[in-house]
Amino acid sequence: MNIRRAEPKDLTNIQQCNLQNLPENYHMRFWAYSAITWPEVSFLAEDSGGRVVGYVLSSIEPDEEFPWLQVGHINSLSVLRTYRRLGLAKRLMLLSRKAMIESHDVEYIQLHVRKSNRAAFSLYSEKLGFQIHRKEIGYYGDGEDAYSMRFILKQRSLVHRLGRRVHGFVYGRQRAFANWTLRCSKRVNQIK
Ligand code: ACO
Repeated sequence: MNIRRAEPKDLTNIQQCNLQNLPENYHMRFWAYSAITWPEVSFLAEDSGGRVVGYVLSSIEPDEEFPWLQVGHINSLSVLRTYRRLGLAKRLMLLSRKAMIESHDVEYIQLHVRKSNRAAFSLYSEKLGFQIHRKEIGYYGDGEDAYSMRFILKQRSLVHRLGRRVHGFVYGRQRAFANWTLRCSKRVNQIK
C-alpha cells in the first residue's frame, strides 16, 4: 500500500473511488479546482497496481465569521470496502491535518457527516478528536441531517477575536489616512 499526496493526474481514479463509496459525488471541475488550488492537503492510498483505494479531498477556506482566518475543510473521505478497518482513513486524515497546519496555519478543521454514518462519525469523534459544532437540518440532497464537526487547533478567546477585529479596523483607518495625506501633499505640490 502506498500513501501519497494526490496529484491532478489522479483525479479520474479518485472520482471512481468516490463513486463507489459515497452518494455525495462531485463534478470533475470541483476535484480539479481543489487539486490545483490546494495541492498540498489532499492524499490518496493506492494498491500495488496503482488503483486508488482511499483518498481524502481537502481544501482551505476563510472562516465564516472572521474571514481573515483560514480554516481547513475535509470535503470528501472514503476507502474501498475491502480496505476498510486497516487504519487507512485515519492515516489519510492525519496527513491532511498535518499539511493544513504546516502550509496554512489553519485555526480549525471542519467537515460534514451524515447523522446516520456511524463509521465515519466514530472515526472523527473517537479517533480524531472532532466535536459536533452544530446540527444542520436537511443538509443533504435526500433531506438527511448533517453534523457539522470541527477539530479546533487554536483556542481563540472572544477577547482575542475582538482584538483581531479592532486591529483590522484600526489598520484600515491608518492606511486610509496615509493615502489621504499622500493625495493632499501631491495636490499641494501641484499648486506650487
Ligand atoms: N463502525 C464503527 N466504527 C468504525 C467503522 C465502522 N464500520 N469504521 C471505522 N470506524 C472507526 C473506528 O473507531 C476505527 O478504529 P478501530 O478500527 O480501531 O476500531 C476508526 O474509525 C479508524 O478506522 P479506519 O480503519 O481508519 O477507517 P477506514 O479506513 O475503514 O475508513 C470510512 C472509514 C472512511 C468512514 C469508510 O468506512 C468509508 O469509506 N465509508 C464510506 C464513505 C464515508 O462514509 N465517508 C465519510 C463521509 S463524511 C466526509 O467525507 C467528510
